[in-house]
Amino acid sequence: MHLKKEFYKIFNEHPKNLYFSPGRVNLIGEHIDYNGGLVFPAAISLGTYAAFKTRSDSRVRIYSKNFTEQGIIEFSINDLTYQDAHHFANYIKGVMEFINQKYHVINDGFDLYIEGTLPPQSGLSSSASLLVLIMFIFNDVYQLNISKTDMALYAQHVENNYMGMHCGIMDQLIIAKGVKDKALLMNTKTYETTPVNAFFEGFTWIIINTNYQRKTTDSKYNERVKECQDALKIINTYKEVSYLCDISIDEYKSIDILIKDPILRKRAKHVITEQQRVLDSKNALLNKDATLFGKLLIESHQSLKNDYEVTGLNLDALVDGALLNGAIGARVTGAGFGGCAIALVPNHLISSFEKQTNLYYKQHTGIDASFYQVNFVDGVRKLEDSK
Ligand code: GLA
Repeated sequence: MHLKKEFYKIFNEHPKNLYFSPGRVNLIGEHIDYNGGLVFPAAISLGTYAAFKTRSDSRVRIYSKNFTEQGIIEFSINDLTYQDAHHFANYIKGVMEFINQKYHVINDGFDLYIEGTLPPQSGLSSSASLLVLIMFIFNDVYQLNISKTDMALYAQHVENNYMGMHCGIMDQLIIAKGVKDKALLMNTKTYETTPVNAFFEGFTWIIINTNYQRKTTDSKYNERVKECQDALKIINTYKEVSYLCDISIDEYKSIDILIKDPILRKRAKHVITEQQRVLDSKNALLNKDATLFGKLLIESHQSLKNDYEVTGLNLDALVDGALLNGAIGARVTGAGFGGCAIALVPNHLISSFEKQTNLYYKQHTGIDASFYQVNFVDGVRKLEDSK
């Protein structure tokens, strides 16, 4: 396997183990995983590969094929503080710090080669893929017996506390627990996941990358999390609930006037209506009703555009282009502000769909989009050919 060769080229020795951690796409249920909602993600065949070997001293050496300009990033296991200069390796330091505080097991350094096939900054969760991968590696190497759910929770803890991104649990949990050929209906309050066949006969899910990323995604994301907390506080003066998603649409209709701030009112409206769309999309799948699922995707995007305001010119142009050129539904997937959309496209239209959608997108934004047809795959795992 070429990972071994690459590891040897960089570190001049053979790796002990090889690993893979997928990325994810979310079909529907956006920005509700930190509001106690149901979401519908799948793990995808694009992801992060690693080759790993422990050392007998305290040095850590990390090299990523995706950031060759960083060279080999080196540090000691005795200094795990965040450093800008350590770039993507800060995610790894964050996991090490967490594992050491909880299990006190990392007493030796290691060499690590990383290679990602996820387009960077595309909203397909390359950071959660890396965090869960590293959590999985330490669990494997030090036989820590951490459950997949806990691996996800610990990875989220690192992202929240070490990296300062106040994300929900969706990405880490799907990356840990993904199931081949299925999407998971995920309860973000209980972490319960139910594998569901998310394919409609005659249609294909296509991921489309805007190839545009706003630098301020993390701060805008954290701002939305805070707005939801503020809306919840106001709702709690009327009814004690733990999450915005504990409120039904009917209930919300009678209490939205409590929220005087129009921005907070819109944010809460998105969350509560999106939760209902996930429930409806589950029925659409059960009834094999692709048209209804498509309609829900379109409504989800409109809500994320108008009420949650996380789309922007590029994503909107991409979704408009997709809908004008054959998709029966399309929407932003992931945090938004840039990154990717997902579209449900009739099989017989796929090649013209890609060409025409790109043409439309380029006319409106000046850049090309990229199209990916991916498989839904199992979650994080060790690769067989490790010896
Ligand atoms: C990012 C976060 C997730 C989720 C999505 C939006 O991917 O990491 O927790 O909130 O955005 O649905």
